[in-house]
Amino acid sequence: MLGVCYYPEHWPQDVWAEDARSMRELGVSYVRIGEFAWSRLEPRRGDFHWDWLDRAFDVLGGAGLKVVLGTPTATPPKWLMDEHPDIAPVDDQGRPRGFGSRRHYTFSSPVYIRESARIVEALARRYGGHAALAGWQTDNEYGCHSTVLSWGPHDLAAFRDWLRRRYQSPDELNAAWGTVFWSMEVASFEDVTLPNLAVTEANPAARLDFQRFASEQVRAYDRMQVDIIRRCSPGRWITHNFMGFFTDFDHFALAEHLDFAAWDSYPIGFTEKFPFSDAERALWQETAHPDIAPFHHDLYRGVGRGRFWVMEQQPGPVNWAPYNPIPAPGMVKLWALEAHAHGAEVVSYFRWRQAPFAQEQMHAGLNLPDRSDLSPGGREAAMAARDLAKLGVLPASRRAPVALVFDYEADWICKIQPQGASFNYVELAFRWYEAVRRLGLDVDIVRPGDSLDGYALVLAPSLPIVSEAAEAAFAAADGVVVFGPRSGSKTRQFSIPDGLPPGPLRSLIPMRVIEVASMRPGVRKSVSGEIGGASERWLEHIETDARVLARFADGWPALVAEGRSHYLGLWPDAAALSSLMSCVARKAGLETVALPEGVRLRRRGDLIFAFNYGVEPWPSPFTAAPIVGDTIVAPRSYSVWPRAA
Ligand code: GAL
Repeated sequence: MLGVCYYPEHWPQDVWAEDARSMRELGVSYVRIGEFAWSRLEPRRGDFHWDWLDRAFDVLGGAGLKVVLGTPTATPPKWLMDEHPDIAPVDDQGRPRGFGSRRHYTFSSPVYIRESARIVEALARRYGGHAALAGWQTDNEYGCHSTVLSWGPHDLAAFRDWLRRRYQSPDELNAAWGTVFWSMEVASFEDVTLPNLAVTEANPAARLDFQRFASEQVRAYDRMQVDIIRRCSPGRWITHNFMGFFTDFDHFALAEHLDFAAWDSYPIGFTEKFPFSDAERALWQETAHPDIAPFHHDLYRGVGRGRFWVMEQQPGPVNWAPYNPIPAPGMVKLWALEAHAHGAEVVSYFRWRQAPFAQEQMHAGLNLPDRSDLSPGGREAAMAARDLAKLGVLPASRRAPVALVFDYEADWICKIQPQGASFNYVELAFRWYEAVRRLGLDVDIVRPGDSLDGYALVLAPSLPIVSEAAEAAFAAADGVVVFGPRSGSKTRQFSIPDGLPPGPLRSLIPMRVIEVASMRPGVRKSVSGEIGGASERWLEHIETDARVLARFADGWPALVAEGRSHYLGLWPDAAALSSLMSCVARKAGLETVALPEGVRLRRRGDLIFAFNYGVEPWPSPFTAAPIVGDTIVAPRSYSVWPRAA
C-alpha cells in the first residue's frame, strides 16, 4: 500500500487531474495534503478560502485516492505573527526565532494554542465528513528544527505552573532539586528561572524537569488538536508524523491518544547524520546503513501500539544532510518493501514532484521538477507497487523473540549529564539493536513498563531511571534480561540512589556500582570470560555476590548475572557486543544465523523477507520458491518466502 505527499497549492489547478490519474497509475492509494497551507486557507484573519481545497478534494477523491489531511499549524502565517509576535519560540540565548521558514511557535503560547484550535476546528468542520477523507495528520514533525524547548516568558510561566502542580510547595521543589547546593534555593515558584544562561552548568534536576515539562506541552498541544478533530470528524483516524532519531519529547506518551504512529523515513540522510565511523558512512552512503530504517519501523510499531505508517519516504537525494548522495539503484524500492516487512500499513513517498522553487528545490520527488517525467525514484516506486501487489494482503506481525526497551527520558539524562563526551544513549540503543539483528533475530522496541511476557530475550541498553512499572515488568519477565551501563543509576529526582546503582534493580541482581569511568577515544580495556572483547567509552567498578560471567583484565567484574537477569558494566566495543548478543541469545534458547553485514531478515506473519544492502549476492538457506525475488538475493534487492521454507 503506497501513498504520496502532494501540495496542490504548489501547482496550477489544471495539472491536478493529470497528477491524480498518474498517482493511481503508479499504484498510489493515499495522498497527504494541506499540512503547510495556512496562508492559502486563511490569507487574512477570518477570510477563509476553501474553494481550492474543495476542488483538490474533488479531483483527488474523484480519481479514487484517499486523502490524509494535515492540519497547517506548523506554519503560522505572517498576519498572525504580526498580530502576536510573542508566538515565536525563543532560543536558549534568549533570542526570538524569526518568521521565514516553519515551526515558528512555542507550545506554551496561549494565543497560539487558541489560534491553532480555531484553524483546526474550521478545517475539521469543513472536511471532517468528506467521502474522500481517510484520516488526519496533526501538524507536522513536532520538534523539527529544535523547537520543543523554548526559553521565553510564556515558557517560563507555564513551567512555573507545571512545577506548582508537581511539587505543591517551594520546600518540596528545593528538596527534589537539591537546591541547597550552590545556594540555589527558591522561596516561591516565582523565583524559579529557566535553566539557560546560567554561568555554568544549570541544575540537572531542573533541566530534567524542564525537558519533562516541554515533552508534556507538546503532548497537550497535540491532544488539543485531536480532541477537536474527534468531535468534528467522527470515524476518521488521527496520526502524527514523528521524526527519526528525535528524542526531545516522549513519543510513546504522545501517541497514547493517536490511532497509530507514523514516521518520516530518510535512511540516507539519517546515515549521514548518525555518529557512524567515516568507514561505515562511506560503506553505506548510497544505501543507508541496513538498520537505520528498521530500527525506526520497530520503534514506531511500538509507539503506535502495533500500528504504524511511513508518512514520508525518501524518494531520491534529500537536501538537508551534510552530503546528499543519490540512492543506489534498487534502494527506493527496497525501503518500501522493508517497511512493509516490519509491519507498516502504508508507505507514503515525500513528495509527488520535486519543487523547482524555495527551500527544498534540491530535494527529489517521484517526478522531475519540470513536470516532464517520473524521476528514477518514481520508477522504482512503481516497481515496489507491483511487488507489493504480488504479496497481496499482508499478515499481521507476530510478537518478536527479542524486546529492546527504549526510553526517551534515558536520552535526556545522558545528554544532561553525559559524564563522558561520547556517551550517547541513542547510539548505544542502536548498536545493541544492530548486533542482535545481525543474528537474524526480529526485535520489538518497547516502552519501559510494558509487559515483557513472552519475550525470550529482553535488552535494556541503558535505563538510568527505573520506574516502579518498569521494575515490576523486569521482575515478571520470563526471558533472559540484560541491563546495560548506567541502568538504575538515578532516582526520579536525578540523584544517586541510596544503596548505589543499579538502584531498584538491586532486587534482581545483588550488586552495586561504586565508581564509573568515561574513557577517551582510543582507550580500551579488554574483557574476557563468557564474552570477549573490550570496553570503550565507559566502564563501571562493580561489587557483587552474583555470578561473574566476564571480567576486566584487572579483575573487576564486567558482566554479572543472577538467575536470568544480567548487568553489563561497560560500553562494549563491536567484538564484546557481538559476543554478548550471541551469549545471551544462546541462553535464551534462540536460534541464530550469522548474517553478512549487509543482509537482514524479518518475518511478518507467515512470510519471511531478506534484504540485501550489500554488494555481494546472498545465497539464502531457504529452499521453497520465493514469492518475490530469487533464492540468491541480489545486491540492493530483496526476496520474500512463505515462512515454511
Ligand atoms: C521532513 C518534513 C517535510 C520535508 C522533508 C524533506 O522532515 O516533514 O516537510 O521538509 O523533511 O526531507
